[in-house]
Amino acid sequence: MVQGVKEGLDLDPSKLQAEIDTYISRTPKSAELQKQAESYLPGGSSRGTSYFDPYPHFIERGDGPYIVDVDGNKSLDFMINATSLILGHANPKISGVISDQAGKGAAFSGPTSAQIRLANILTDRIPSVDTIRFTNSGTEGTMMAVRAARQFTGREKILKIEGGYHGSHDYVSVSVYPSKEKLDPDQSTPIPEYSSQPAAIAEGVFVVAYNDSSAAEAVMRENAEEIACVIMEPVISSIGYVPADISFLEKIRELTKELNIVLIFDEVQSLRVSPGGAQELFGVVPDMTTLGKIIGGGTPVGAFGGRRDIMSAFDPTDGGADLAHAGTFNANPITMRAGEVVMNALTKDEYDRMNALGQVLREKLRAVFAEMDVPVTVTGVASLFGIHFTDGEVKNYRDAISSDTQMKKAFFMGMLNEGVLLMAGAAGALNVLSTEDHVDELVDSARRVIQRIR
Ligand SMILES: Cc1ncc(COP(=O)(O)O)c(C=O)c1O
Repeated sequence: MVQGVKEGLDLDPSKLQAEIDTYISRTPKSAELQKQAESYLPGGSSRGTSYFDPYPHFIERGDGPYIVDVDGNKSLDFMINATSLILGHANPKISGVISDQAGKGAAFSGPTSAQIRLANILTDRIPSVDTIRFTNSGTEGTMMAVRAARQFTGREKILKIEGGYHGSHDYVSVSVYPSKEKLDPDQSTPIPEYSSQPAAIAEGVFVVAYNDSSAAEAVMRENAEEIACVIMEPVISSIGYVPADISFLEKIRELTKELNIVLIFDEVQSLRVSPGGAQELFGVVPDMTTLGKIIGGGTPVGAFGGRRDIMSAFDPTDGGADLAHAGTFNANPITMRAGEVVMNALTKDEYDRMNALGQVLREKLRAVFAEMDVPVTVTGVASLFGIHFTDGEVKNYRDAISSDTQMKKAFFMGMLNEGVLLMAGAAGALNVLSTEDHVDELVDSARRVIQRIR
């Protein structure tokens, strides 16, 4: 066992099975659709995160803060498509611009004015972003940001955080979800994400633990001549939305500046914490930023942007761009207009209200787990939260995987049986339609689930 990783708490396996049995009894149509889907899609799925055991519920429709599955079960949705639907489901203004634009033409090979408007809003709001390029996913955004950093510095390697997820392209697919058994107890070493990954990928990546300033400093100083960029989230999503210590962010900023390493903040998820993202909330401004999720109004999207001198590699106006960047649906007007609706709806007051409610949610959750004497650590910031079945502090990936995964599974399934959808990792996000009643519903459901599974 890895040092510092605790054994799980004891969950009676029959309690998990009871929740699964209840789920199965509530979802016969989903079970049937899963069977059909398995004929055409591996495991019946196109997306790792939409699958959970024994099979996922198939969704019929969304309705504001709720989703309704094909069996008619209505759930209060704290997953909201991986935090992306910040205005809730089926927002009428968004449906309006999507149908209007579909009537005019969904995508063209030439640019439209809609991309200027969304780019204008984002560059105004996000401190690090002088200019921006749109993509169709966050994955493409991080891929292009890394490429830009390599071009700008003339260096090849990257430094990332252990447990950090930045999409599914190879360069960042190192030490994303390494199992406890694979972790080197003494340090963070780059661990290939899959067994057939070319060895050169992990050889091009340095990995450090989140919030470990001295490890980051040692690696950066020793290898500065080789490192093109540090890519990291200022609020790390995969381990329950743990905000970085400000001192860690400041140290990374100071070192990257000194060593001429491009600092990339992946704000695909954390843009939702304030109008200018986590970089504004924490007051630490990177060189480049990657975006996705909320900026597409529920349609596929990604983006990368940053300092004008770095981004100028993509400028074709003066004799051709140094870096090619194409994409059939990049900046398509449906996405741009849907994104514009979202960004205009997200006023400072909306962020403040959501963030204050997030604080209430985390406090109420802590109180209910304490009242029931269950060792739980609640993480998160602003409108984001994560639940860990451990009594230890959660500051990095290793802390997070020390929590009890069986309890987490039973809790996730129990909550779904209560009509509350969380992410399978027992994390979630608020949206602008969230109210204190919704928070109370979540907390009361948590109490009932714990009573059943403890
Ligand atoms: C922090 C972060 N970066 C990048 C991505 C990749 O975005 P996409 O799924 O749009 O490719 C995600 C997706 O969950 C993410 O959470």
